Amino acid sequence: MPIIIVKLDEGDRKIEVEHGVRLVLALADNGIDVSHRCGGNAKCTTCSCEITEGNPSKMTEAEKLKNVKNARLSCQILVEGDMIVKPLMRVKNMDWDSPGGTPKKEITPDPVWI
Ligand code: FES
Repeated sequence: MPIIIVKLDEGDRKIEVEHGVRLVLALADNGIDVSHRCGGNAKCTTCSCEITEGNPSKMTEAEKLKNVKNARLSCQILVEGDMIVKPLMRVKNMDWDSPGGTPKKEITPDPVWI
Protein backbone atom coordinates (compact mmCIF):
# COMPACT_ATOMS: atom_id res chain seq x y z
CA MET A 1 0.00 0.00 0.00
CA PRO A 2 1.34 3.44 -0.85
CA ILE A 3 2.72 5.65 1.91
CA ILE A 4 2.05 9.38 1.85
CA ILE A 5 4.07 11.80 3.91
CA VAL A 6 1.82 14.79 4.49
CA LYS A 7 3.62 18.05 5.23
CA LEU A 8 1.60 20.09 7.73
CA ASP A 9 2.42 23.22 9.75
CA GLU A 10 2.24 21.17 12.93
CA GLY A 11 4.56 18.46 11.62
CA ASP A 12 4.64 15.62 9.13
CA ARG A 13 2.02 12.88 9.10
CA LYS A 14 2.63 9.48 7.57
CA ILE A 15 -0.42 7.71 6.21
CA GLU A 16 -0.81 4.42 4.42
CA VAL A 17 -3.56 4.42 1.82
CA GLU A 18 -5.28 2.13 -0.63
CA HIS A 19 -3.66 1.92 -4.06
CA GLY A 20 -5.71 3.84 -6.63
CA VAL A 21 -7.63 6.02 -4.17
CA ARG A 22 -8.22 9.67 -5.04
CA LEU A 23 -5.58 11.75 -3.30
CA VAL A 24 -8.15 14.19 -1.89
CA LEU A 25 -10.01 11.29 -0.24
CA ALA A 26 -6.80 9.68 0.99
CA LEU A 27 -6.09 12.91 2.86
CA ALA A 28 -9.62 13.65 4.05
CA ASP A 29 -10.30 10.08 5.18
CA ASN A 30 -7.19 10.29 7.35
CA GLY A 31 -8.42 13.39 9.13
CA ILE A 32 -6.43 15.94 7.15
CA ASP A 33 -8.47 19.08 6.58
CA VAL A 34 -7.72 19.50 2.89
CA SER A 35 -10.32 21.73 1.22
CA HIS A 36 -12.47 20.49 -1.64
CA ARG A 37 -15.03 23.23 -2.07
CA CYS A 38 -16.37 22.05 -5.44
CA GLY A 39 -16.78 18.48 -4.23
CA GLY A 40 -13.86 17.17 -6.25
CA ASN A 41 -14.97 18.32 -9.68
CA ALA A 42 -11.87 20.21 -10.85
CA LYS A 43 -13.62 23.58 -10.60
CA CYS A 44 -12.38 25.34 -7.45
CA THR A 45 -8.64 24.48 -7.08
CA THR A 46 -8.98 24.52 -3.25
CA CYS A 47 -7.73 20.92 -3.15
CA SER A 48 -4.36 22.03 -4.54
CA CYS A 49 -1.33 20.27 -3.12
CA GLU A 50 2.36 20.70 -3.61
CA ILE A 51 3.80 17.28 -4.45
CA THR A 52 7.54 17.08 -3.93
CA GLU A 53 7.91 13.35 -4.46
CA GLY A 54 5.82 10.89 -6.43
CA ASN A 55 4.16 13.53 -8.60
CA PRO A 56 2.19 11.51 -11.16
CA SER A 57 3.09 12.25 -14.77
CA LYS A 58 -0.42 11.74 -16.05
CA MET A 59 -3.02 14.45 -15.64
CA THR A 60 -6.69 14.81 -16.38
CA GLU A 61 -7.73 17.23 -19.05
CA ALA A 62 -9.93 18.98 -16.45
CA GLU A 63 -6.87 19.59 -14.25
CA LYS A 64 -4.80 20.86 -17.16
CA LEU A 65 -7.51 23.36 -18.06
CA LYS A 66 -7.28 24.90 -14.56
CA ASN A 67 -3.61 25.68 -15.25
CA VAL A 68 -2.56 25.57 -11.59
CA LYS A 69 1.07 26.61 -11.14
CA ASN A 70 3.50 24.56 -9.02
CA ALA A 71 0.74 22.40 -7.55
CA ARG A 72 -1.64 19.62 -8.45
CA LEU A 73 -5.35 19.17 -7.88
CA SER A 74 -5.66 16.33 -5.37
CA CYS A 75 -9.18 15.58 -6.62
CA GLN A 76 -7.74 14.70 -10.02
CA ILE A 77 -5.00 12.36 -8.82
CA LEU A 78 -5.08 8.64 -8.09
CA VAL A 79 -2.47 7.46 -5.59
CA GLU A 80 -0.36 4.84 -7.34
CA GLY A 81 2.84 5.08 -5.31
CA ASP A 82 4.56 6.76 -2.39
CA MET A 83 4.26 10.53 -2.27
CA ILE A 84 5.23 13.61 -0.28
CA VAL A 85 2.33 16.05 -0.31
CA LYS A 86 1.56 19.44 1.20
CA PRO A 87 -2.08 20.60 1.11
CA LEU A 88 -2.09 24.31 0.29
CA MET A 89 -5.60 25.33 1.44
CA ARG A 90 -6.50 23.69 4.71
CA VAL A 91 -9.87 24.46 6.25
CA LYS A 92 -8.23 25.64 9.48
CA ASN A 93 -6.33 28.31 7.54
CA MET A 94 -9.30 29.53 5.51
CA ASP A 95 -12.44 31.36 6.57
CA TRP A 96 -14.67 28.37 5.79
CA ASP A 97 -16.91 26.30 7.99
CA SER A 98 -16.41 23.08 6.05
CA PRO A 99 -14.03 21.57 3.52
CA GLY A 100 -16.77 21.31 0.88
CA GLY A 101 -18.96 18.55 -0.53
CA THR A 102 -17.67 15.00 -0.25
CA PRO A 103 -15.89 13.94 -3.43
CA LYS A 104 -17.06 10.71 -5.07
CA LYS A 105 -14.80 7.66 -4.96
CA GLU A 106 -14.10 7.94 -8.68
CA ILE A 107 -12.57 10.94 -10.39
CA THR A 108 -15.12 13.49 -11.55
CA PRO A 109 -15.72 14.69 -14.16
CA ASP A 110 -15.04 11.46 -16.09
CA PRO A 111 -11.29 11.64 -16.55
CA VAL A 112 -9.68 12.15 -19.93
CA TRP A 113 -6.02 11.35 -19.28
CA ILE A 114 -3.37 13.33 -21.06
S1 FES B 1 -10.80 21.45 -7.81
FE1 FES B 1 -12.40 21.60 -6.39
S2 FES B 1 -12.05 19.93 -5.10
FE2 FES B 1 -10.46 19.75 -6.55
